[in-house]
Amino acid sequence: MPTRDTHFKTLEGLASQAVSIADLFKTEPNRMDNFVLREGPVRADFSKQAMSESARVALLSLAANCDLDEWRAKLFAGDKVNTSEDRAVLHMALRGVGGSAKVQGQVGKMRTRMREFAERIRAAKSKTGKGKKYKAIVHIGIGGSDLGPRLVADAFRATGAPALELRFAENVDGASINDALAGLTPKSTLVIAVSKSFTTQETRMNAEAARDWLGKNAAKNFIAVTANNEGAQKFGLAKDNIFDFWDWVGGRYSVWSAVGLSLQIAYGPEHFDAFLKGAAAMDTHFRDQPLQENLPVMLAMTGIWNRNVLGYTSQAVIPYARRLRKLPAFLQQLEMESNGKSAGRDGKPAGLTCPVIWGDEGTNGQHAFFQWLHQGTPGAPVDFVAVLKDGEDRPEHHKALLANCFAQSEALMLGKPEHVVREEMGDESNIDELAPQKTFPGNRPSTTITLDELTPEAMGYLIALYEHKTFVQGVIWNVNSFDQWGVQLGKVLAGAILAEMDGEKGEHDPSTNALIGLVGL
Ligand code: F6P
Repeated sequence: MPTRDTHFKTLEGLASQAVSIADLFKTEPNRMDNFVLREGPVRADFSKQAMSESARVALLSLAANCDLDEWRAKLFAGDKVNTSEDRAVLHMALRGVGGSAKVQGQVGKMRTRMREFAERIRAAKSKTGKGKKYKAIVHIGIGGSDLGPRLVADAFRATGAPALELRFAENVDGASINDALAGLTPKSTLVIAVSKSFTTQETRMNAEAARDWLGKNAAKNFIAVTANNEGAQKFGLAKDNIFDFWDWVGGRYSVWSAVGLSLQIAYGPEHFDAFLKGAAAMDTHFRDQPLQENLPVMLAMTGIWNRNVLGYTSQAVIPYARRLRKLPAFLQQLEMESNGKSAGRDGKPAGLTCPVIWGDEGTNGQHAFFQWLHQGTPGAPVDFVAVLKDGEDRPEHHKALLANCFAQSEALMLGKPEHVVREEMGDESNIDELAPQKTFPGNRPSTTITLDELTPEAMGYLIALYEHKTFVQGVIWNVNSFDQWGVQLGKVLAGAILAEMDGEKGEHDPSTNALIGLVGL
């Protein structure tokens, strides 16, 4: 049986014989059938990747060779696929897919409690009976306890204005909590501190600041969402003010749990239910569809091709949708914290793993870094993400937005050869200097993902798509996508330096000593 290495050799061979993307459309008449996949409101067009039909087939064969079917089955069966922490990974159970009867029971109870709480807060009237009791939510949390709710809050805005203003505080920089509280009144503000561990420095400090700010209102208006119920009680919270989640929910996969409480309150339980429903549909697609028809698998294997065979070191994600502008930041955590690793599950070097994930909203990026995408070296593969239906009642704006999105993927693929530039320039005197500068190399790969409409359900599909992509890539790279040892060292050293700023003795290199010496100048 061919080994993983043999598969990569085959793929490298195919890459070396490659014809341009534009020519692949001429030589492969079925390209649009084989390279476009759809599930519910999500359509993904991989045809503008620099990948031939033979390469696509070989990539799927690599996935099978890496036991993807078995890993997928283990994930959904609740096996402890987070091997280093000896935990199951069951965020799909939060959307009703998989998980034991016990797990589903816990999830069901929590969903009912969240719904009832959200409805109560949304309906609460002020003491005078005039107007609402609660006017704003301040959601405190960082990383997985912040990025998902923040991205989804923007997207849910497409359904209408929130019932309460929703603000976020994540950074330990005092500006973060100050800005979040500015202009609010303690009586009418609900603070929700979200932290899986309830030990995270940033969240603890912001939570303490918010609790002080709330004063006597804290007893009613301070809520915690955590997997460390005891820690939240020690912080001084009553049991009724704590919403639990569980160690089988990873932080960056947690928006589906009570971590999404502020979304439920601000936008209503129906939208949150639709969000879960969309993700559940993507879960069953990923679980049940054969590899060749499987959207997350194709997205993941395209990334493997670009990273491990073509050698790209980064992956751009450009949402052509203002309400998805946090998607690159969300995916940075999802993919880079999950798969940014050097050691495999077996402790051996894993080889090339997660590329840098980066990006910003289109069309803004066109006036910033697209120059580099078109002519820089070596460029980067792009995931364009667009929404087909105008949600803003601005049809002309929307057409322009989509035209720009589609034009960019076409321009990246086609480029503009030097001979065409020279023809256009005619007998201009500086043609030899300028023609190469005006040339676009082209053959730059991209995938275009469209959502029919920016509904909560479509958001569920989209996020679950990338979650499963991340899992598949972890399987191919043989890394554990569900731990994050790489964030520990900096946290420990920050603790030591903080103690030294308060007078303790410590030893560092000369550069760090000098920096510590600057504080208080
Ligand atoms: O430092 C990284 C990290 O542990 C992330 O994995 C996590 O999402 C974030 O910090 C916040 O952690 P917590 O929810 O425990 O406060």
